[in-house]
Amino acid sequence: MRNIDKVYVATGFGWLIFAAGFGTWLGASGHFNFSESHAHIGLLGFVASMLFGLVHRGWPELRERTLAIVQFAVYEIGAIVLLAGKIMVDATGVPNALLMIGSPIVIIGVILFLWLFLAAPARKNTPEMVPAE
Ligand code: HEM
Repeated sequence: MRNIDKVYVATGFGWLIFAAGFGTWLGASGHFNFSESHAHIGLLGFVASMLFGLVHRGWPELRERTLAIVQFAVYEIGAIVLLAGKIMVDATGVPNALLMIGSPIVIIGVILFLWLFLAAPARKNTPEMVPAE
């Protein structure tokens, strides 16, 4: 997927809007029990998605592989499930299935990105020599 870098960065901005809105709500309403959820939305959602997008931008060869789309789907679905579970933990004080399912999916998503990154063929850094006419 050629434009997965943009998709990732746009997704990161989506998470930032959510994290900022959530932070504004919890601060204004005094629901500080949700501070950790807010922090996780910002870091796992916004920061990590932005970094994945910028790595795709810096290493364009990663975008050629179908694994790039699979990795995006696994990571973002995992983040949604994990963060929903984390919000529930902050609300109730007890662990739940969403958190336990989301956490390994997020970890798998990160491992897939590392695999994508390490398995990509090295880029040629020297410019091609074109013979003169
Ligand atoms: C409009 C944007 C934001 C607002 C209004 C906001 C608001 C808040 C508030 C009210 C708290 C709780 C402070 C307390 O417990 O005394 C907090 C904590 C925190 N926020 Fe934000 N925040 C914003 C954006 C972000 C972003 C983008 C990130 C991360 C990328 C972030 C990371 C954190 C962290 C790490 C904490 C500490 C959590 C803890 O103590 O458990 N915030 N924020």
